Amino acid sequence: VHMQEGSVKLPETVTVSLGDFAPWCLEAFAARLDGHVEIAENGFITLKKADIAKEGYKLTVTKDGITVEAADESGAVWALTTVTELTAEGEALPIVTIEDAPHYGHRGLSLDCSRHFFTADEVKKVIDQMTRVKLNVLHWHLVDDQGWRIECKTLPLLHETTGTYYTQEEIRSVIEYARVRGMEIIPEIDMPGHTRSMIAAYPHLSCFGEKTELCQFGGIFEKILCPGKDETFEFIEKLLTEVCALFPDDRFHIGGDEAPKTEWKKCPHCQALMKKQGMKSPQEIFSYFVLRLEKIAHEEGKRCMFWDEASATNGLSAGTVISGWHDLKACTETVDRGLPVIVMPASYCYIDMKQNAFDRGHTWAWLVDTRRVYALDPASVTASAEKSKLVRGVEGALWAELLDHPDRIAEYQAYPRLCALAEVGWSRPEVRDWNDFYVRLTGTHLARLDAMGIGFHLFAPEIKYDHGVISAASLPHATIRYTADDTDP
Ligand code: ACM
Ligand code: ZN
Repeated sequence: VHMQEGSVKLPETVTVSLGDFAPWCLEAFAARLDGHVEIAENGFITLKKADIAKEGYKLTVTKDGITVEAADESGAVWALTTVTELTAEGEALPIVTIEDAPHYGHRGLSLDCSRHFFTADEVKKVIDQMTRVKLNVLHWHLVDDQGWRIECKTLPLLHETTGTYYTQEEIRSVIEYARVRGMEIIPEIDMPGHTRSMIAAYPHLSCFGEKTELCQFGGIFEKILCPGKDETFEFIEKLLTEVCALFPDDRFHIGGDEAPKTEWKKCPHCQALMKKQGMKSPQEIFSYFVLRLEKIAHEEGKRCMFWDEASATNGLSAGTVISGWHDLKACTETVDRGLPVIVMPASYCYIDMKQNAFDRGHTWAWLVDTRRVYALDPASVTASAEKSKLVRGVEGALWAELLDHPDRIAEYQAYPRLCALAEVGWSRPEVRDWNDFYVRLTGTHLARLDAMGIGFHLFAPEIKYDHGVISAASLPHATIRYTADDTDP
């Protein structure tokens, strides 16, 4: 960043010369400026193709206008996002040159829309807010034990049994909304565990085929898909043929987490499979399942992702990416096996955890406050320069077991923790410094989030007790309310 004296106001209608860029890269910018954007020759903003890193940009603001240089549309989207951020409160743009590019290509959020359903419009809001901090991947956790959320025309009992789901039309509109914001969507169909919504619709998919219901609460359930039956794989092939075609991005997440082997040990089909294949433990059934699913996904033209439980599977293809969620050690083991990893250990990245002891949320991965998220160092998972190339990025996760009002509470859970995560993903490690981040966050950025209409969690006030007097201090503009009788303030 190179700042100079002076500033320039954005015109009422911002004209843009597109150069060789596709017009879609203006869509989010136009939406954020309430449509006051027009394509023109000699525009106030000039876009130019330049030899800059993927997603990177050079933004030059002068008294006479703005030049954006980028190699691709995403770079232009991020440059224009910076323009809207700097003017969020209606202020003039500083005269400035900014050269920037992300450190990691994958900067994501996993969003659980099974445990609580976010409407398509709510998902779009999540996407717009994420892209304002330059996150670029929505890992869309669409199905789990509590609900199947994808309209499926060839296997309609899936969505009919759950009842609340996205139509394919809605899914396409979410994908398009994300695309013009420079965001990839990775759908997840988690298998073989967390599949009660599939089994409730099609009971023959489980080992014993008995009728069952959707789960009402979170947890790990023993009734999962049966890899011992050919019908299971025939079903999955049919399912993935339809669902993979719906999602244009080439990555597809197949889950693989938290799959108890309890039923497999008792199931005649699974036992016959073990015997036929010479398997020594049910863990080998799991590996067999993972490899068969990887093959099916490849046939549908997809590259696979799995949770880290799958990373020990021998024979995974080199392009398969692992989501390392247990801890940093799981990420280290993944790169040691030669597989790319997304670093997302729960104790840094799970933003369904409480932010302080009095907060709502889970605690099983302990308190995850903004400072904790910021302390994540993805590079720390390996000391090897070669293996560090396998560290593809970072991801937060917003699981929704406790999100009873997704429209309201999602923002409180997500910000400012996602601001911290975005910086971990974007900035080079050597320039990251918590104190500097905190000053920028509380000095200007929270006010900008507010001006952009993004709700957030405030840091708890500092409480002091001195000679019988309790005093509390918080950020400028914050209002402190309290009661002395345990009632809600
Ligand atoms: C997970 O949290 N079970 C991926
Ligand atoms: Zn079985």
